[in-house]
Amino acid sequence: MSTDEFPTDRPAVVTCGLPYANGDLHIGHLRGYIGADAFNRALRTLGQRSAYVSGSDMHGTPVAVNAEEQGVDPEDFALDWHEQYEETFPQFNVEFDNYGHTHDETNTELTQEIVRTLDEEGYIYEKAIQVAYDPDADQYLPDRYVEGTCPYCGAKARGDECDEGCQRHLEPGEVEDPKSAITGNPAEYRERTHKFFRVSEFADYLTDFLDDLEGTSNARNQPRQWIEDGLQDWCITRDMDWGIDYPADGDDGADDLVLYVWVDAPIEYIASTKQYGERVGEDEYDWERVWKDDGEIVHVIGRDIIQHHTIFWPAMLEGAGYNAPRGIAATGFITIGGKGLSTSRNRAIWAREYLDEGFHPDLLRYYLTTTGGLQQDVDFTWDAFREKVNGELVGTIGNFWYRSLLFAYRNYEGTPDADVSEEVRERIEGAIGEVRESVNDYSLRGVGQAATALAQFGNEYIQRNEPWKLTDDDPDRAEQVIRDCVQIAKAVGVLLEPIAPDKAQRLWEQVGEDGAVADAHLEDALEAPPRNFDEPDELFAKIEDDRVAELEEKLDARIEEAAAAEDEGEETESDDTPADESEAMTDTEDLEPLLEDRISFEDFQNLDIRVGRIESAEGIEGADDLARLEVDIGFETRQVVAGIKQLHDLDELSGEKCVLLANMEPAELFGVESNGMILAAGDEADLLTTHGDAAIGEKVR
Ligand code: MF3
Ligand code: ZN
Repeated sequence: MSTDEFPTDRPAVVTCGLPYANGDLHIGHLRGYIGADAFNRALRTLGQRSAYVSGSDMHGTPVAVNAEEQGVDPEDFALDWHEQYEETFPQFNVEFDNYGHTHDETNTELTQEIVRTLDEEGYIYEKAIQVAYDPDADQYLPDRYVEGTCPYCGAKARGDECDEGCQRHLEPGEVEDPKSAITGNPAEYRERTHKFFRVSEFADYLTDFLDDLEGTSNARNQPRQWIEDGLQDWCITRDMDWGIDYPADGDDGADDLVLYVWVDAPIEYIASTKQYGERVGEDEYDWERVWKDDGEIVHVIGRDIIQHHTIFWPAMLEGAGYNAPRGIAATGFITIGGKGLSTSRNRAIWAREYLDEGFHPDLLRYYLTTTGGLQQDVDFTWDAFREKVNGELVGTIGNFWYRSLLFAYRNYEGTPDADVSEEVRERIEGAIGEVRESVNDYSLRGVGQAATALAQFGNEYIQRNEPWKLTDDDPDRAEQVIRDCVQIAKAVGVLLEPIAPDKAQRLWEQVGEDGAVADAHLEDALEAPPRNFDEPDELFAKIEDDRVAELEEKLDARIEEAAAAEDEGEETESDDTPADESEAMTDTEDLEPLLEDRISFEDFQNLDIRVGRIESAEGIEGADDLARLEVDIGFETRQVVAGIKQLHDLDELSGEKCVLLANMEPAELFGVESNGMILAAGDEADLLTTHGDAAIGEKVR
């Protein structure tokens, strides 16, 4: 893997995490697929040779459990979903160069080959372990067939993942108080012999790998901690029928085992690239060079699957003689109106629903890529969506495109004959530089902002130069100004293509260009468009307030309905998404019990709790969750360390009022002194504040 700046002369591959073929796609999925698609498109505008591949994740208990619930064969069940996904992606302008699935021949063969190599290289061994078993169902209970408590953080967990807590992978037997997900019975244990991959041997390799890894910082920091805590070997087989058979040679007793889904799923990244390479031919795209030699591999994933991609996967690649990923960008979660997305509670924006409401896919693409940095959780509300669309797409970009092209069309039937001014040329060059830098920083928000800021400049430029006053008095000057504006409009289109490809294409055609803007490079933003073009159309339309009210009502009603159904004990679909992390809980079963011990008023008086204002907040380098805050408490400004790095948009905290325990004894965390404690409630660190006019520094009593 290289760390040379993009574009390099090596072929690249961009992937997104494989969707489990087990249910409808929603906005949480789309964030990743759109993000990876936009990143791949952005690489291409830089002139990087790049392919975007993925596939459906067909195996494992996420598919088997849902298929069983519906009484259908897992293969038919998964294939149905796979076909639906293939149809849905293009509707969001998510354009894969290859979209396969993990059950196809390419992946099955490649998986068995890689596992055989790992075995030959001595990285696989057998061990007898205790596996969960449900006597009533007469079935072993791998992964999602069992539920219990996470041994690391105490959250409710599935057999193989702490999906509502610390997001760790759990090994068979690790989950505490295991219960069968089929019958609710406490699990019994039986001894079985399984295959293990010696992940622990890769600790040094992985440490070096992480040092060079690009992408988001969460994908480096969390795994560093896990390595420091000590890596365990990884059980890679399961007692199930559905999956890829362990490539046994017949005499080692592994014949009735399938591979754990997390073995064959990432191998689909390679298999899918291979299918693409074989389709277009080696001269066009050399998949083996990418995966076995020196290609640029970039994975876009959700932050719940960091461990699989930064520990297990690179260890497998290294052990089997493959190339390591260069970048891993792990996105934050999507919340809906401040609460965790939950498919079972119907608190989600479904892909189908979004399209059925008649919204253009590029609006959602723009919202999801530019609302927060990749790592940040992004909250979706229809109102925030409207605000972003009306403000930036309609108000800034659409407005500039339409007014400048209409003016050019009416007065010059297209692009006036003049050279672009020095000022505008430099401004466009600056924007191109910002895009190049943003791509190298894995910042899609940066890409979008470069385009929007350029359109904003265009609006100011036209306003400042008032060409409508010049057409009679100073026609040369008027031509010059409009010539500049047409160039800016075209440039905004080229820059925006990765994020809003369809709108960019329409703009491209409106300025009279042929072919596909997707094939344009950033430098084309500076090339003159053809002399003539037709009357332009407006490319974006405002979303009205009453439309938003209607959509929010629908969403609320739907969530209530699902809650009522749940209360009645009706069956709801099993959840395949990360935790309802920020769910405001009402069920006291989920709350920490009240303390029996009472304290005196004097004890309370001894707590010096003050109203404060956050002056600044920044993440602490090397710490997963910690942020350093400066808090003004009237008398002085306190530096405090708080575990809110992942939970809040740090850039937005400054200026917020908060409540601080001021006489907490000082502590040092990650080399940073913490001089007080910010008060917060719940898993999402909902920050306490005051709601009236209490002044900064006032005591809470
Ligand atoms: N299907 C998995 C999930 O939704 C992701 C698999 S990504 C891959 O969590 F790396 F395995 F490909
Ligand atoms: Zn946990």
